[in-house]
Amino acid sequence: MIALGCDHAGFELKEAIKEHLSNKGIEITDFGTYSTESVDYPIFAYKTAKAVASGECEYGILCCGTGIGISIAANKVKGIRAAVCSEEFSAEMTRRHNDANILCLGGRIISKETAIKLVDIFLSTPSESGNHKRRIDLISDIENNIEIG
Ligand code: RB5
Repeated sequence: MIALGCDHAGFELKEAIKEHLSNKGIEITDFGTYSTESVDYPIFAYKTAKAVASGECEYGILCCGTGIGISIAANKVKGIRAAVCSEEFSAEMTRRHNDANILCLGGRIISKETAIKLVDIFLSTPSESGNHKRRIDLISDIENNIEIG
């Protein structure tokens, strides 16, 4: 199950991604927003991020104007590693090296075609172990107020 969320500026992108994933037979939960009427992105970041952090959804995809505000909000939820990407290399590497669980995209930055490419890369790339796992564990330590370094 893939969680989708957006604000008004990411709505069109979210709809395109929703259609693409549905066509591929991938199950999604759409946490809104459901129109281009102005809304506050933290609300949709929070709903989507909670669904991923709880395990209800495996990954999340969030869209706002730049992808930045919605990623900052999502990253406040414990267990979330949300990454803003606008090109293919980052979408691949944030899965391989950061084990990112939410992909954030900017509806005012990238085209629908690029967004769909990034979504496909993100959802099909595994995370790597070794050094990368150790660093992700250190990120969790920061989240849990454990002193590091
Ligand atoms: C909304 O105008 C815009 O600020 C929002 O979509 C996002 O880009 C924030 O980071």
